[in-house]
This record gives sequence, C-alpha cells and structure tokens, in this order.
Amino acid sequence: MIEKFKLKDGRIVIIKRLFKSDYENNNNYEFVHNWLRKVNKFLAKDFNEEDIEKDKKELYQILSNDKVSIFIGALDDKKIIGSASLMINPFNEKESHVGTWGIAIHPNFQNHGLGVKLLILLENIAKEMGIKKLEAEYYDGNKSAEILYLEKMKYTVEGRKKYTGLLNDGIYTDKILIGKIIDKTLEL
Ligand SMILES: CC(C)(COP(=O)(O)OP(=O)(O)OC[C@H]1O[C@@H](n2cnc3c(N)ncnc32)[C@H](O)[C@@H]1OP(=O)(O)O)[C@@H](O)C(=O)NCCC(=O)NCCS
Repeated sequence: MIEKFKLKDGRIVIIKRLFKSDYENNNNYEFVHNWLRKVNKFLAKDFNEEDIEKDKKELYQILSNDKVSIFIGALDDKKIIGSASLMINPFNEKESHVGTWGIAIHPNFQNHGLGVKLLILLENIAKEMGIKKLEAEYYDGNKSAEILYLEKMKYTVEGRKKYTGLLNDGIYTDKILIGKIIDKTLEL
C-alpha cells in the first residue's frame, strides 16, 4: 500500500505502511522521536531525549512482529511526519477480535486532514484482517483528539478512568475509553 494524499493546504504527502527500515532510513527514528517530544502533552509517553535508544529498541521489537501490530505513516520529503499504529493481540483468545490503536501527527502537519485519513485507512486494514471492534483512549482535554475520534470517526465513549493521567503541567486528568464496532454482525 502506497498512495499520495493532498493536505488541506495543497501539500502532497506519501502514505504507506511503515516497517523498521522506514525508521532506519534517513535518520527517521531520531526525527520522529524529536517531534513526538513536541506533541507529548497528551501522550502517555514523554519521548525524553535521554530515552531515545531505549524507546527505539522498544519500537523495533514491536515492528519486528507483524502478527501483533501494523503501522501506517505519512512521509514528507522521505521524513515520517505522522503515524497510526494498530495493535492486535492474537494470544489473548477472548479478545482477539479487538484492535487498539494510537496516532500522532507532526506539529506542522496537524489539522490538515491527516488524522482522519490515517484512521480511515487503519479501520479498513482492521476490517480486512477480520477485526470486529476497535478501541482507543485519550486524555480528557485533548480537544483535537476528541473531535477527531468522536465527531469525525464516530467512536463512542465507553468509559472514563478518573485521574489516571498526570500531565507535564502537574494536572491530573481522566482517561477516556472509546470504541467502535466495525463488524455489524457483532451486534446481531
Ligand atoms: C490528535 C491528532 C492526531 C489529530 O490529527 P490531525 O491530523 O490534526 O486531525 P485532522 O486534521 O484529521 O482533524 C480532524 C478534525 O479535528 C479538528 N482539529 C484537529 N486539529 C485541530 C486543532 N488544532 N484545532 C481545532 N480543531 C482541530 C478539526 O475539527 C478537524 O476537522 P475538520 O478537518 O473538519 O476541520 C493530532 O492533533 C496529534 O497528533 N496530536 C498530538 C498527539 C496526540 O495527542 N495524539 C493522540 C493521543 S490520544
């Protein structure tokens, strides 16, 4: 899968499935880690500079097993400027029909339609794999995530974990659990 996508301001980015080699090429892992640190306010991980090697090892471990995860990303001039990851758990038999995902977009490319594009692609991939339900979570207060997930992608709120997140500004916030049935036969 590889396709061109036109952002709202006319810039064209490449969308493709991401593999370990995409992060190894052009110092992409370091580039991504650097911009993730700039958008980490509502991310569970901080992406501190001193953790870069540890974080890289962790990601490469995940990427090495395509039975448990699929990453798709957007590239501008060969640099990864957004990604969405779908995690599946084939070893947890009772929940193997459920996929979970996360997403992050480079600050200069946010609010240009990439979030919607990547999540629609991820949903289609999940359907092809036979996944019946998608789940995700976000910290209360993450307005753009809330709009993208609930209004644009039609997820519903399934729960709220009180004061689960301690943001970098010292504020405790709730974690909102969301879900979407993507195989209607589940509800028959
Ligand atoms: C949340 C995030 C993934 C959204 O991705 P995105 O590419 O900016 O989203 P889109 O451009 O597809 O926007 C979808 C909708 O959200 C709203 N939106 C997105 N960013 C917004 C912003 N900065 N201000 C106001 N509304 C915004 C818009 O209403 C938009 O709909 P529209 O295109 O009809 O106007 C992105 O902001 C991001 O990476 N944030 C930092 C990391 C993060 O918080 N990840 C999620 C953790 S749960």
